Amino acid sequence: MNLQRTFTIIKPDAVKRNAIGDIIGQFDKHGFRILAIKKLEITKHQAEQFYAVHSSRPFFSSLTDFMSSGPIVALALEKENAIADLRKLMGATNPANAEEGTIRKKWASSIEHNAIHGSDAEDTARFELSFFFAGFELA
Ligand code: RTP
Ligand code: MG
Repeated sequence: MNLQRTFTIIKPDAVKRNAIGDIIGQFDKHGFRILAIKKLEITKHQAEQFYAVHSSRPFFSSLTDFMSSGPIVALALEKENAIADLRKLMGATNPANAEEGTIRKKWASSIEHNAIHGSDAEDTARFELSFFFAGFELA
């Protein structure tokens, strides 16, 4: 039993395509408990801080423009092995490689406009949860 928390964002492309309900339904169906949820917009600067690990990558500017281009939905999720299980449910970064039944297979339109973000490890999950949620929101 490894009850774990992870962090996810429904990205601007998926929000624009009215996919919020479908994606949250998939979290429910796959046993993720929603600890906290909010819809908001972030600035380019906030997107740069959030994705700081990618600051030297060629797609950094385009990625942070995209992530600040419209409303997003941020969620804190909990389940056993939440981090790995969410990554599995999301599918590959590039939708061309995403497996059938994954969120990116259904909703992503390109390697950048790929519908959903998910934490990739325990330390990044901790950083990302505390970036978007205050302690009392996760209690
Ligand atoms: P995420 O962090 O958003 O959950 O996605 P990921 O782990 O599957 O992929 P990552 O390598 O961390 O990349 C972060 C996001 O940057 C955009 N990206 N664009 N143009 C490109 O080649 C490229 N590569 C990555 C995607 O939006 C990706 O999700
Ligand atoms: Mg990543």
